[in-house]
Amino acid sequence: MTIILGIESSCDEAAVALVAHGRDVLAEAIASQADDFAAWGGVVPEIAARGHVAALPGLIERVMSEAQVGFDRLSAIAVAAWPGLVGSLTIGVTAAKMIAVRRNLPLIAVDHIQAHLAAVHIGRDEIRYPLVGLVASGGHSHFYLAHAPGRIDLLGGTIDDAAGEAFDKAASVLGLGYPGGPLVDRLAAQGDPKSVDLPRSFIHDDTLRLSFAGLKTALLYHVKGVGGTGTMNLSDQGKADVCAAFQAAIVDCLAAKLVLAAKRHGARALAVGGGVACNRGLRARLAKEADRLRLPLYLPEPKHCADNAAMIAALGHHLHLRGEHAPADLAPLPTGKAGPRKQKQSAVPVPGTP
Ligand code: KG4
Ligand code: ZN
Repeated sequence: MTIILGIESSCDEAAVALVAHGRDVLAEAIASQADDFAAWGGVVPEIAARGHVAALPGLIERVMSEAQVGFDRLSAIAVAAWPGLVGSLTIGVTAAKMIAVRRNLPLIAVDHIQAHLAAVHIGRDEIRYPLVGLVASGGHSHFYLAHAPGRIDLLGGTIDDAAGEAFDKAASVLGLGYPGGPLVDRLAAQGDPKSVDLPRSFIHDDTLRLSFAGLKTALLYHVKGVGGTGTMNLSDQGKADVCAAFQAAIVDCLAAKLVLAAKRHGARALAVGGGVACNRGLRARLAKEADRLRLPLYLPEPKHCADNAAMIAALGHHLHLRGEHAPADLAPLPTGKAGPRKQKQSAVPVPGTP
């Protein structure tokens, strides 16, 4: 039996998981700093990295003791090595390297984006490949053709904002808080998606391009007037309606392009990962599209869509079986190998704020 210890620290979450056979989570723990960053309106890289230093040792101890697994039973250590905030990644990579050297275990460098797609293996026996996958998160909104876990080709994606980033900015314009995706999702359930007409860039073209910049501006102008400098004058229902319309526009674009990618590449299944895959509107819509295409849809449970360590260990399992181990001097990279990714939006420190 392979047991992989997975470590994730690419952004503001530090997470550790023990996964057997690349599918069974024996134990997992996460320390999120999202609440701390609400006051800043985004992630402050320096603070995130320091938070990981404090959190990781306790998380590792907790999962090892919860699963009652000793280090001698581990097959390998897998760590998210790219892409991400380099300071944050460095903490996880350093911890993984120390354990690997001390316990004489193989070290595995995992691509965080590829791991979001490999999360579909958690709790499932058989995954049909090739599949087309969407990874939609705060820094990423791209489509991939996956031939096997960790073997993926970039097909297309956003030319400007990531979907999660757009959700976060919409929430900020509406004064809802951070991170915005879950807040918009919750309010959208009470709103009318047809109440506001918002743009869906590239939806009818024959490419796998996405763009959310125009949508974001349209929302800003709707809420604060043309130019976006006025004050918001929306009732609670008005806010819910805007959220519903905004979410519907993003869901329409993501769903249309995933279907196009599946048809074009003869996919045998659909997969979605990344924090935006927690969105209830997106999950419901993709279930319908998969039914229409008669393809299985692999949707990890929400905690394995957002950043987590089980997905790192799940992909680590497959890389381990293929003998794809990392050198002892593994260094994290801010950019990934699985396609373009914008640097994470960081909060700009404002003097006098926490
Ligand atoms: O994958 P993730 O946890 O971290 C990144 O790698 O970025 O994704 C975080 C993003 C944030 O932008 C957040 O607002 C968004 O995912 N998100 C959602 C939902 N839950 C999280 N967006 C829409 N609906 C949600 N329910
Ligand atoms: Zn992520």
